[in-house]
Amino acid sequence: MKIRKAEIRDLNVLKIISNEQFKNENLRPKFKLLQKDATYQIKIIEDGGIIFGYIVIKYLDKYLFDIYSMAIKQEYQGKGYGYKFLRYILESSNGHKFNLEVSEENNAKYLYLKCGFKIDGIRKGYYGKKDAILMSYYVFKPGSEES
Ligand SMILES: CC(C)(COP(=O)(O)OP(=O)(O)OC[C@H]1O[C@@H](n2cnc3c(N)ncnc32)[C@H](O)[C@@H]1OP(=O)(O)O)[C@@H](O)C(=O)NCCC(=O)NCCS
Repeated sequence: MKIRKAEIRDLNVLKIISNEQFKNENLRPKFKLLQKDATYQIKIIEDGGIIFGYIVIKYLDKYLFDIYSMAIKQEYQGKGYGYKFLRYILESSNGHKFNLEVSEENNAKYLYLKCGFKIDGIRKGYYGKKDAILMSYYVFKPGSEES
């Protein structure tokens, strides 16, 4: 299992994964545009050269990051890969705080809670009729002052 930055040649596979996982087109990242935008980074997870998931990170500030999108291919779900992948991102990036939004009805919220995210609030009607849960994760760096 390997986690690395996405290359242009990977984007078609990411599009297939995203199309499968998000019925709502608006939730599918526009990978080709994001790849050209320095404020985004696309990370992939693969095994034996087979890509089975991605995480898109948006850099809001030097240390403030957004988990913009995440998906694991259907047949790889429920095996702990999403957890390992997200934990890797939280531990290896030099972000101090990560934000995300997730639909109240998406089970992904349990993954985020398990990874250490806390609920900040609810955004009413953010996903049409559904509410969004706003979550954040603070990285504690030993030796750094808590603010
Ligand atoms: C959300 C997603 C990335 C999780 O990936 P995954 O590899 O299946 O997750 P894991 O196997 O690592 O699960 C880790 C934890 O998340 C939670 N979780 C994951 N899927 C869950 C489900 N369907 N129901 C309840 N809890 C779930 C559990 O707490 C689980 O820990 P446990 O197995 O010890 O109970 C994956 O289901 C996915 O791609 N979903 C579709 C796209 C999406 O909704 N993305 C997020 C919104 S941007």
